[in-house]
Amino acid sequence: MHKIAIIGCGRISFKHVEAITSNNELDFVAVCDVLKERAVEKADEYVKQSGKSAPEVFTDYKKLLADIKPDIVTIATESGYHPQITVDALEAGCHVICEKPMALSIKDADWMIETADKCGKKLAVSFQNRFNAPVVKTREALEAGRFGRMMHGMVQIRWNRNEGYYSQAPWRGTWALDGGTLMNQCTHGIDLLQWMMNSPVKRVHGVTRRYQRPIEAEDFGSAILEFEDGSVGMIEGTANIYPTNLNETLSLFGESGSVVIGGLAVNKFETWRFADSETIGDPEETVIDPDAKDPPSVYGFGHTALFADFADSIKENRKPMIDGREGKKALEIILAIYKSMKDGIPIDLPFEFSTTDMKKIFS
Ligand SMILES: NC(=O)c1ccc[n+]([C@@H]2O[C@H](COP(=O)([O-])OP(=O)(O)OC[C@H]3O[C@@H](n4cnc5c(N)ncnc54)[C@H](O)[C@@H]3O)[C@@H](O)[C@H]2O)c1
Repeated sequence: MHKIAIIGCGRISFKHVEAITSNNELDFVAVCDVLKERAVEKADEYVKQSGKSAPEVFTDYKKLLADIKPDIVTIATESGYHPQITVDALEAGCHVICEKPMALSIKDADWMIETADKCGKKLAVSFQNRFNAPVVKTREALEAGRFGRMMHGMVQIRWNRNEGYYSQAPWRGTWALDGGTLMNQCTHGIDLLQWMMNSPVKRVHGVTRRYQRPIEAEDFGSAILEFEDGSVGMIEGTANIYPTNLNETLSLFGESGSVVIGGLAVNKFETWRFADSETIGDPEETVIDPDAKDPPSVYGFGHTALFADFADSIKENRKPMIDGREGKKALEIILAIYKSMKDGIPIDLPFEFSTTDMKKIFS
């Protein structure tokens, strides 16, 4: 049994409560938000869902770390606060699950990774869509070599985040605490694209815009990624789709396989064609379900699987599926898109950059 605590009880935290409730190896011992009523609400939610006793409520995470000494801390505060809280928790002896994006600069991501190494503790980043059923099946096909050489891939994130979304929490869309739609909404799709292309990114060409949302950062982003093996990735991401969320689609094209996963949030197969299955007369095999439903929210169901993988990684003393180094990859791509937009040139990796280097880019 691992003692676990949540730090940050806003919009996404119900997914953390759900993931804890459904895992018998996790014992929810403490919950913290600087706004006490939010922490109390999460404690109540847990009691209702699980029928177990309430976690202890805190408003100061350092006091929580000192008093409770949890085995695992899961962090769901504003993105800009992730690095300091993660490092404090690791140094207090906790394993850490951190919401995406893990940080807003290369330097902070490296600080978190190095601290986890130094403390001998595990660090995972919440890219829960890697656990979506079609994504898992596609990765299996990739690892089995069914795509052959990958040629190009594309991710489209065509969502709507309206003014109400931004006014609800003023940190959203700021360079200091969030970044724009690439960093907040599109980071999942960008992670999946780079994971499936399965080659390190070499060079990034980016163009971003702030069209209409009342924020500092971009509400539209586009990019071309050049991978080391010569394959190419394309990114189209926006928070401006009228009138509501349309789709998040990942398309992958290899020499001997084509897969498109669409739906609201990469949750439904649209195409599944492999040369090695054409011969058996069922080119789509059986994976395409025309009646497949979208999940109730774009967050999907992956947090539960991600928390389970994390608990197993402790038990089995192995890396979690998305450790700090894996979590940094999408961050690095997005920061390269930002820097490319700022400098007006393609960016070669590695490089140093922070969202705060983008201040006043759109004013
Ligand atoms: N994985 C996903 O699909 C997903 C979805 C949405 C949000 N997120 C990420 O989760 C994080 C939170 O997003 P949100 O929309 O829930 O934000 P939110 O503003 O709704 O909630 C953040 C909460 O953290 C609290 N907080 C801030 N500083 C704190 C501190 N020092 N100690 C304790 N609590 C503190 C705030 O009071 C607030 O209640 C962000 O990093 C975001 O990018 C991930």
